[in-house]
Amino acid sequence: MNIKLSKKDLKNINSDIELVVVKDLKILSKKEQKLLKKISFDLKSFDTYFDASNNKFFVSSSKLKKEDLKLCLCSAIRAIKKLNIKTIKLDLIQNEKELKISEIVEGAVLGEYEFTKYKSKKEEEKDLELIVSISKSKKDEEQLNKDLKESLSITSSVNMVRSIINTPPEDYFPATMANDAKKIASENGLECIIHGEEYLIKNGMNAMFNVGRASRHESKLIHLSYKPKDAKGKIVLVGKGLTYDSGGLSLKSGAGMVSMKCDKSGGSAVLGIMNTLKALNCEYEVHGIIGAVENMIGGDAYKPDDVLVAKNGKTIEVRNTDAEGRLVLADCLCYAQDEIEDIDYMFDYATLTGACIVALGNETIGTMGHSDKLKAKMQKAANSSGELIGILPFNRYLPAQLKSGIADIVNSTSSRAAGSITAGLFLDNFVKKENKKKWLHLDIAGAAYSESPWGYNSFGGTGAGIRLTLDFIKKLNK
Ligand code: BES
Ligand code: ZN
Ligand code: ZN
Repeated sequence: MNIKLSKKDLKNINSDIELVVVKDLKILSKKEQKLLKKISFDLKSFDTYFDASNNKFFVSSSKLKKEDLKLCLCSAIRAIKKLNIKTIKLDLIQNEKELKISEIVEGAVLGEYEFTKYKSKKEEEKDLELIVSISKSKKDEEQLNKDLKESLSITSSVNMVRSIINTPPEDYFPATMANDAKKIASENGLECIIHGEEYLIKNGMNAMFNVGRASRHESKLIHLSYKPKDAKGKIVLVGKGLTYDSGGLSLKSGAGMVSMKCDKSGGSAVLGIMNTLKALNCEYEVHGIIGAVENMIGGDAYKPDDVLVAKNGKTIEVRNTDAEGRLVLADCLCYAQDEIEDIDYMFDYATLTGACIVALGNETIGTMGHSDKLKAKMQKAANSSGELIGILPFNRYLPAQLKSGIADIVNSTSSRAAGSITAGLFLDNFVKKENKKKWLHLDIAGAAYSESPWGYNSFGGTGAGIRLTLDFIKKLNK
């Protein structure tokens, strides 16, 4: 999808069709009103209608901003894609209201995305062009162009991440993720360090190392850094990059294993965020740390009953090899805090628990941490980005569930109660005292992947966490 701004009046722009957003029938000509009434055009449900004789494409929306506008653009573009049409024009002013460029772009670009790489018969790839007339805009042209550039960069990162998540595990393993990190680094002027298993062993990262032991693919610790001049502060992003989670010896059921290629979504989100910082002129130093590992079975697999020593010296009794994400993150969190001093914000992203889906559903990111202020700040970013978060509260009683008879803590509690929160509290054991209030754990198990399309997400990976975090970072820049 190609989106351009034009200073020309709408009538002077050549295109196959004009897209008209209808909030109220009154803005239309009498003839058009009659036509839409005749077909019972629904003004509330992002209904679409193509008037082929006048080359006008109507789409309804009861509100002209935020999620409504994005869903409206998504509905229009998905319907237009099925027609034999290449160029679309749209007036930035609709129903006397000026639309937001970023909302148009998110709805159109994210709504248009489909993952077709593995289809043998591909429909002809159509490169749609959307020309937005800004002739009547009250904003200055430079600002509008900046908004366009930023939202194109954000949405292309989201779509890149969706494709990474959707790629099957045979074609996407830790080394593939490391190569993607290198590519992103060279395109954005980032530093990129990749460590293999020898480093993990030498540096006491036994929790992470053991999870990947039975895989034929070597685990990779990925460290990307974005370092602008005179940085205002430091942000650390840690991602769970399980390129496949079979459950290990505590093997998942057949049905439970399907879609576990999505277990790399946290690490992939970190790649997407790192890929956008330069375009947003981010003023903070940002580190992206990803534990890329495959959790498999075999004679060399780590076992329930093993005791692992993490990088910070804490001992962990393995009670379930399917609670592997927290083992990988434990060492990655330690690595991050050993390598980086004076952290201002530390967020981790992980498809960590099925319990998060039970608690919050398939759309909402479970958000945990010790600072109410920081959680409120993240809630604000959720409200403006359109991503959904739900706060899951820590309390003083739950940590007792992590007690082990043989080691410091267990990796999986005996009760299923508060499964997402006890996972978050497990990670808390690897957050240094000085960073407690700077840390948030984002469980994206539900929001990262869905086989039933919802909103402007198609089948598969959604790119959860990227727009949320970039919105958080943009607010810090202001
Ligand atoms: N990757 C899974 C969590 C998950 C489930 C992600 C569904 C996306 C969709 C994680 O590694 C896992 O298996 N967690 C276990 C933890 C349990 C053994 C304590 C779970 O949720 O069942
Ligand atoms: Zn697992
Ligand atoms: Zn997992």
